[in-house]
Amino acid sequence: MTTKLIDATVPGGGDLTAPARCLREGGLVVFPTETVYGLGANALDDCAVRAIFAAKGRPADNPLIVHIWDTAQLDGLVAAIPDAARRMMDALWPGPVTLVLPRGQQVAPAVTAGLDTVAVRMPSHPVARELLRLADVPVAAPSANTSTRPSPTTAAHVMEDMDGRVAYVIDGGPCDVGLESTVVDVSDGGVTILRPGGVPLEALESLVGHVSCDAGAGTAAPRSPGMKYKHYAPRCEMVVVTGTHIRERVEQLIVQHAGKRIGVLAASDITKDIPGAAWITACGAAPESYAHALFAALRDMDARGAELVIAEFPFTERGMGRALRNRIYKSAGGNVVQS
Ligand code: TXA
Ligand code: MG
Repeated sequence: MTTKLIDATVPGGGDLTAPARCLREGGLVVFPTETVYGLGANALDDCAVRAIFAAKGRPADNPLIVHIWDTAQLDGLVAAIPDAARRMMDALWPGPVTLVLPRGQQVAPAVTAGLDTVAVRMPSHPVARELLRLADVPVAAPSANTSTRPSPTTAAHVMEDMDGRVAYVIDGGPCDVGLESTVVDVSDGGVTILRPGGVPLEALESLVGHVSCDAGAGTAAPRSPGMKYKHYAPRCEMVVVTGTHIRERVEQLIVQHAGKRIGVLAASDITKDIPGAAWITACGAAPESYAHALFAALRDMDARGAELVIAEFPFTERGMGRALRNRIYKSAGGNVVQS
């Protein structure tokens, strides 16, 4: 299959009629969202949705998020909308929060992997919204990476993984947030974060009161099936350094691993030289900038042939720190050093 790349970064946004028709007719289209790029298919077409799993090499028991541009599309997609869900939709959609709701009749079986719930989100990226409007069907879309690799935050990342496997890739420029949406289960009366993401826990609590967090670390059957898989990983070994004397510990680790090509993700705004490191990527001193930079930085480490990635993590679990911690710890496969 030849993949057509559409430039939607131009003024006016490019012509999205052909990819929209392709989606409606069962094809695969990659599109930008404010979080990461999504690999979309018509969520009402089981055969189209199964092609997503094949293109990504994704385990069939890991359900997908359905993307909509208008709440009128919820009819038939979900069986009920609890009060707390309604409040979050009103305040946070369009935006990076996904709601897990009781499943409606129309959703293709492959989307939900046998669960009686369905995850739904309304992205805010203007290109995603225009594509969804033109396609006029709900669109199931996981992140557009091959399974286990870091999620793509530019069209170039998408092409690394998906060239030849999808009909269209729409380039909308770099994604704002850089990490995926917050997945919130509201299907059972409570409000539980299954995956921290672009909307912080504190923002949810200000709307609905107490919110619990069950990101399923170490559980064999977590409530969000995706949390049990290896994810977001660079090809080489990676270690996260956290605590109080982070830079000193990073320098010690570099000495211990002398002879390896070592890349450092620094939690700073400037690339100050670190002796023995082959590359230093300054990811910014705030969790938001680090989140924005993380996946691109990990792919860059692979491209440069790093043999060890050391990532500084000085943040607390507040705000975006929570989602960033979740992704960066997973990227390192739980390999964390406390300094
Ligand atoms: O920001 C995002 O959410 C991006 C963009 C493309 O929208 N999408 C994304 O999709 O990250 P994916 O497939 O990479 O992650 C979806 C997560 C997985 O952890 C999956 O297990 C969980 O959502 N999920 C989907 N449906 C679910 C359900 N019915 N119940 C519990 N978890 C669900
Ligand atoms: Mg993903």
